[in-house]
Formats: sequence, C-alpha cells, structure tokens
Amino acid sequence: MTELNNLALQILSDGKGILAADESTGTMTKRLESVGVKSSSQNRLTFRETLFTADSMSSCIGGVILYDETINQSANNKKIPEIISQQGSLPGIKVDSGAKILAGSKDEKITEGLDGLRERLRIYNDLGARFTKWRGVFTISKAYPSRLAVQSNAHALARYAALVQEANMVPIVEPEVLMDGAHSAKDCYEKTSEVIKECFDELILNRVDLTGIILKPNMVLPGSDAKEKILGEEVAKLTVDCLKKSVPKEVPGIAFLSGGQSEIEATENLNLINKYNTTNFIMTYSYGRALQQSALKYWSKNPKDVNGTQKIFNHRAKMNTLAAQGKWSKEIEKE
Ligand code: G3H
Repeated sequence: MTELNNLALQILSDGKGILAADESTGTMTKRLESVGVKSSSQNRLTFRETLFTADSMSSCIGGVILYDETINQSANNKKIPEIISQQGSLPGIKVDSGAKILAGSKDEKITEGLDGLRERLRIYNDLGARFTKWRGVFTISKAYPSRLAVQSNAHALARYAALVQEANMVPIVEPEVLMDGAHSAKDCYEKTSEVIKECFDELILNRVDLTGIILKPNMVLPGSDAKEKILGEEVAKLTVDCLKKSVPKEVPGIAFLSGGQSEIEATENLNLINKYNTTNFIMTYSYGRALQQSALKYWSKNPKDVNGTQKIFNHRAKMNTLAAQGKWSKEIEKE
C-alpha cells in the first residue's frame, strides 16, 4: 500500500467523510449575506472555527477542505490546520483558482490555476495540507457539455492531480456535472459517464497513481428544473451503475458533493447509494452546503451559542457518517 493510498483511506474509512469548507470569499459572502451576517474575515473565521472545534470532527470528519484565507488564519493562538489535526482530521486545501469562460466555447467554463501550482503546493504542504481539491464544472444542455469542455477540463484535472501527487498529497478530483437545467436523470447519467471516463483517460495518460486519489463526483440526478423527478432508489441505482462502469477499480474512494440537494436529500441518497453499492469503492460524502446549512442558519441568529451551533453540525455529520455505511434511517434522523 502506498503512502498516498493510506492517506486517502485515512480520510474516507469507517464512514468518515469530508467537510467542504473551501467556499471562496465571494461564495462565502453570498452564504453569510443570505442569513443576514456581514462577510468580514473575522465572521468567516468564527463560523468555521465553531465547526472545526465540534466533537463530530473526531468521530465523523476525516478531512476538511480549506480555502486559502482560512489555512492562513489562527484562532486562540492556534493555526487552523493545527486545530483540525488535533481533532484527528486532516487539513486539505482548494488549489484551483476558479472556473472562467472557456475560449472557443460560448459559455462553458474551464477551471484555471495550473500556473505556479507546483510552488503553491509546496507552501500549502508546509502549512499542513495533506490533500487538495480542484473542481471542474460542466453544464448539461442539448449541446453541452461540448467535447472541448470535457477534454479541456479533464486535461487540467489530470495535470493538477499529477502535480499534487508529486508533492506527496492526495488530489481530490472533482468533475461536477451541475444540476442546473431541466435535463432528465438519463441525460445526467450519460453526461456524467462521459465526463468521468475522459477524466480517467487523462489521469492515466498523466501517470497519476489511481490508488492515491479521491474522486468527488455529483450523484446522478434529474436537473433542478426537470418535470420528472425520480425516487431516491433510482438515484442510487443510476449513480452506482454509472460509477461502476466509468471508474477504474484501483480508486479507493468516492466522496460525493451535495450540489444543491437539501440536507436530508443528500443524506438519504447517500444512504441508498451505500445500500445498493455493489462495488469495492468506499462511497461517502464531501459536502459543503449539506453539512453546513442548518448550522449556519442557527449561528447567524445565535452567534454566541457555540454549543447550539455545534450540536446541529454534529447531528448532520453523524447522519451522513451513518449514511456512508448504509445505516441511516428517517427514525434515526429524528432522534
Ligand atoms: O466543490 C464543491 C464543494 O466542495 C461541495 O459543495 O456540497 O455544497 O455542493 P456542495
């Protein structure tokens, strides 16, 4: 077993999942303003520190993805990566610099950030990061994602992953097929399969060690504006089937993004995925909104009640950790 494979398993084993707290300042500003809180550097830190010091960090959260601002911050004279490590969790870092309009395509996106990445990785590693994240985004419509968008983003993801492994960290490879639109679950299945297969072709071409990565895909879902909704069982079957056919068996684990699902939906679907999981892949969570939404809402109204906010976050983390083992139920959710 390689060191990177060990690290990946440390993050994902025993129902543990990932807390995606890597919202860029722009995105975090939107999240905070939506609950009436001013987006100051201190407020961003205070909310995140509240989560990072919660009990579930030790029992449920194997890794935390940070944003550049946060990995450089301290609270109570302790550096944030140190606070996370002391909880027994691993600090990670988002290293892409966002999705920009792809030249040659009218409105599809390419994720940027490869320039100077080797040097930045060294700095992040010195700051305590043990894994990284890069997100490529794909939209579904009649013509999209185009071959150009699929190939360009897969190529960038693979070059990123090779550089990260060279720096002895585990790359999270995140090709996100967005829920936006009125497409069917079948469309999502086909496009997600195409995107993931292309990513692995490029990862192999770039000699990435597949035992030392974590794949972070979307679940197979109908678009958010689709007329026809499907049951969770169908989501789970389609998702497992899609991944079984497009992910090489060397990959140790898959950690889903929540992508705009509600907290309960994201937990329920993950639970069903694990009930239907006929692969050897660990299937767990790497949620942003689906772990933080209720905690953020409560914190915005009760900023002094650290325990109250942590209780809500602990519950969500525990529910998702149960779901990652196929042990969640509606009854347990209410307890
Ligand atoms: O890149 C996406 C985030 O890491 C996951 O966020 O669970 O809110 O989709 P989400």
